Amino acid sequence: MSLQLDRRSEELRLRVVRRALRHDSSPKHVAGTATFVDDMREPEGLLHIAVGGAPIAAGQLLGIDLDAVRAAPGVVAVLTAADIPGKNDVGPVLHDDPVFVDGRIEFHGQVAFAVVAKTRGEARRAVTLAKFEVATGTHCVSVDDALAADQHILPDYTFRKDDSAAALAESAYRMKGRLRIGGQEHFYLEGQVSLAIPGEDGDILIHTSTQHPSEMQHLVAHMLNVPVGDVTVEVRRMGGAFGGKETQAAQWAAIAALGARVTGRPCKIRLDRDDDMNLTGKRHDFLADYEVGVDIDGRIQALETVMASRCGYSADVSGAINDRAMFHADNAYYLPAATITTKRMKTNTVSNTAFRGFGGPQGMMVAERAIDEIAWKLNRDPLDIRKRNLYQEGRDVTPYGMFVEDNILLPLIERCEAMSEYRTRRRKIAAFNAESPTLKRGLALTPVKFGISFTTTHLNQAGALVHVYQDGSIHLNHGGTEMGQGLYIKVAQVVAEEFGVDIAHVKITATTTAKVPNTSATAASSGSDINGWAAKNAAGAIKERLVAFAAENWEVTPDQIEFRDNRVFIGNQSVPFAELIRKAYFARVSLSSTGFYKTPKIHWDAAKGRGRPFFYFSYGAACSEVLVDVTTGEMKVQRVDIVHDVGRSLNPAVDKGQIEGGFVQGMGWLTTEELVFHPDGRLLTHAPSTYKIPCSSDVPEHFQVALWDGANREDTIYRSKAVGEPPLMLAISVFAAIADAIHSLDSDKPVPLDAPATPESILRAVQVVTGR
Ligand code: MTE
Ligand code: MOS
Repeated sequence: MSLQLDRRSEELRLRVVRRALRHDSSPKHVAGTATFVDDMREPEGLLHIAVGGAPIAAGQLLGIDLDAVRAAPGVVAVLTAADIPGKNDVGPVLHDDPVFVDGRIEFHGQVAFAVVAKTRGEARRAVTLAKFEVATGTHCVSVDDALAADQHILPDYTFRKDDSAAALAESAYRMKGRLRIGGQEHFYLEGQVSLAIPGEDGDILIHTSTQHPSEMQHLVAHMLNVPVGDVTVEVRRMGGAFGGKETQAAQWAAIAALGARVTGRPCKIRLDRDDDMNLTGKRHDFLADYEVGVDIDGRIQALETVMASRCGYSADVSGAINDRAMFHADNAYYLPAATITTKRMKTNTVSNTAFRGFGGPQGMMVAERAIDEIAWKLNRDPLDIRKRNLYQEGRDVTPYGMFVEDNILLPLIERCEAMSEYRTRRRKIAAFNAESPTLKRGLALTPVKFGISFTTTHLNQAGALVHVYQDGSIHLNHGGTEMGQGLYIKVAQVVAEEFGVDIAHVKITATTTAKVPNTSATAASSGSDINGWAAKNAAGAIKERLVAFAAENWEVTPDQIEFRDNRVFIGNQSVPFAELIRKAYFARVSLSSTGFYKTPKIHWDAAKGRGRPFFYFSYGAACSEVLVDVTTGEMKVQRVDIVHDVGRSLNPAVDKGQIEGGFVQGMGWLTTEELVFHPDGRLLTHAPSTYKIPCSSDVPEHFQVALWDGANREDTIYRSKAVGEPPLMLAISVFAAIADAIHSLDSDKPVPLDAPATPESILRAVQVVTGR
């Protein structure tokens, strides 16, 4: 009771945290004045780089005739593997990502050389003059190809709970199926870009667009064969990243750095959109086989699934992505017995990589399809089957041995059910569909339960650096990067709150390896969780010194000192914050501190497939209604209602933006965005003319987002929760609603809809269901 009162009065005292402050760069974003790497004033003598790639998907590079390239106008240097002083590698986990092809060609377009020229146009024109001599080998393009050829990039991995085979055998009903889940291009508005500036004594400064400055620093240093300390990587902001700039900014940073090393001049590389789409990895597409067994009431007895993914030619972070698919193959549902396997297939395509959700969305698709299969078989409303299978007391252990301790699924779903008027609309939709032969409406309400933490335990650490200057202005730096998600403003709010000052007192500064070292990627949605705490710890250390100083100077006890409203209240008097700072400076109090944080409680034993990989779960639920023309396959999302859990929000405006944006991006993944490869290995959809991301007119007209208001039960920063990735998976409700619309054609048949649910995919499912 008293603890609760304490919490409540602490809540009431908050001035900056919890406020819907606008994104610190939003006026600049709108005015077009925010500086991205390509907008930076170009250093004198800047050279520009373009890359040239292999003309086949697999084989040997026997030689490249570069004479015409070297002789082309404006060309200053040509870079190949032979120019690399250190390791020809930018692989983040295994060392299997060459900067330039050296011998073996692994995918169509794989970079084999780079041209450094006076202008970008000259570099791009010169690249086309190379003549390749190659020996063509055999290649795999799709998951199916790789399964047939038994080509794996990493070993298969399985975790098990109980005896799923026995549980399936004893089930009243068993449903078996296959689901294809498409990949996704990140389509960040700002493409990959790096600007490398050589300095004294071999130093190099790289401005780049990356979620992972420390890794870029390490990989560039290894490539150049210099100490890590010679390389500084700075990132002010990215024009979107979505996971695509976690590892895959490295090759471009390395090429820019190599150009700078070879020529002694600043070098910039900015990929053309087609090159960006051809040469950087995407979300993994999956081929999932599943079998689910239930009792007569539709309660799951066992789930078995084998999910095979297209990893591309190298490992990148495919291991962790496939792991996360496995961690989410239960989604919100209790599985008494389960066998969950992933196959990490090697293909001769670009190396696939992190994308918002990091494999989690693909795993969840399997869980939600299994639920729909049960509903179709038992002829029940899918929402009833979902609710019946939720984690609950006594049924709360995941297939990997972690207990779901913070479960809010049922009340959250019920709120979404009420907000969306699910039951009334269900009846209306059934009536509509009975009368309408070509247009069918579909409705689905699906939950999300997403695990928060890097599943690679050591990555869950963060650092920050805070200075207070003599006028009371505060300089904030931390290891997190800004990609539009609002991390900088959230962390600044935390620091302002700590010092009891307005947000305007806090200077947000670019992320740089020179200020905070050895950072983790801004990824796994953990940016504000870990950097928020690190910054609070840094500010808190300074504040502690200030309190000690004030207590001594004014002869009060520390508990009589409070920082609030840009002032410091000391006993029964108060001074402006800046005045205390000045006094502290003259008293020789240190006004600068680092801060550090590591996430508690987490551990993971990969060999046993057991542990607590996540600090906590973030939850959400979405109800979507679609209208499908079953004769053309056209589809429109008509209404979406979302209830999403962000704990106690640090910034409700930013969080709502993340929920809306994540949902629409997920909708694109599951409906219009389709990656098509030619059998020869070329990506055919490498421009917006053929690759369809959602646009503003695709945002549903009725789009209602409510925040679930409940504190994180774990001690996160101000009891908030991560928000970056989970909302993407709310869009599974759109996919399930499309299946629901098709299901109205014949209630006796399951709907073998594959993702993305393009018109073609919808028509294929319609044909199977109607038998036409
Ligand atoms: N939001 C915007 N506007 N742009 C982005 O690139 N990336 C997403 C998400 N939201 C992204 C975004 C991804 S993949 C992650 S992991 C998180 O933001 C990372 O930031 P966070 O940890 O601070 O939430
Ligand atoms: Mo996000 S996929 O973890 O960068």
